[in-house]
Amino acid sequence: MLAKKDLLGLYDCSAEEICEILETADKMRDFLDGKDKKSNLLAGKSLITLFYENSTRTRVSFELAGKYLGANVVNISAASSSVQKGETLIDTGKTLDAMKIDFIAIRHPMAGAPRLLAQNVKASVLNGGDGMNEHPTQALLDMLSLKRKFGKIKGLKVAILGDIKHSRVAKSNLFGLTKLGAEVYMYAPETLLPKEISKLGAKVAKSREEAIEGADGVMGLRIQLERQNGGLFPSLSEYSAFYGVKDNLLKYAKKDAVILHPGPVNRGVELTPTLIDGETSVIEEQVTCGVAVRMALLKLLVEYREKNL
Ligand code: CP
Repeated sequence: MLAKKDLLGLYDCSAEEICEILETADKMRDFLDGKDKKSNLLAGKSLITLFYENSTRTRVSFELAGKYLGANVVNISAASSSVQKGETLIDTGKTLDAMKIDFIAIRHPMAGAPRLLAQNVKASVLNGGDGMNEHPTQALLDMLSLKRKFGKIKGLKVAILGDIKHSRVAKSNLFGLTKLGAEVYMYAPETLLPKEISKLGAKVAKSREEAIEGADGVMGLRIQLERQNGGLFPSLSEYSAFYGVKDNLLKYAKKDAVILHPGPVNRGVELTPTLIDGETSVIEEQVTCGVAVRMALLKLLVEYREKNL
């Protein structure tokens, strides 16, 4: 049983809660391989996806997760909503709440926006990524992909390379993976690595080789030009040459290591096309696990709501 009405970040989640989400998501992942992806677990419940930033994977997988479980799903994009007329996030939330909805999945460019919304609505709020803060459902799907490959999280070494500073994915993975006993190594240019990251449990590597040495999972992260003002590295081609994950670096990882990327990927920048499309890549499996994780969260949050609200 989850302990809160909302899923705002993995910093707030206990190891027990994360394990329960992953166990439920594992069953949902099997369900997705079935012929009929139909359940009435969420019949009569309503999910709103409220996205103030672009998304393909997160928004669509929340929508499918709700629909596969029998919920009513409505998508709102900020660009075509009353947000454009100056409505605040809290007023938007209260308006949706008044329509007797059960869930809001939100993506917002401002860190903390999902928490602000959660404090002002009765619906359960699921964070689909808030600024540079957290992207908990992404980290959960990354963890599910690793757990299904290796049968465990405890004792794994995961190397994360790329734009750590602007990455909510890196932070949520760091919290989730270390809570379940994995080691997280990070490597990036100094300008793209928060100075305090080791205090949060990351091991900072001095080279790509050190980060990848003995790793079970190697995750590339997208360079987030949209959150930068420039000047953090000379050029994309130099970034790729000195910090990208190249084919020949995989020899340092474990033999059965996997390549991960949250997407969207800049082909040839953070990962080579050979790695993205190769046999070691679990990037497509991550996407499928994303639907499973979001189904699991909706199920567990309904159980919480029925018991506590
Ligand atoms: N990984 C991820 O959040 O992708 P989208 O931006 O497509 O949702």
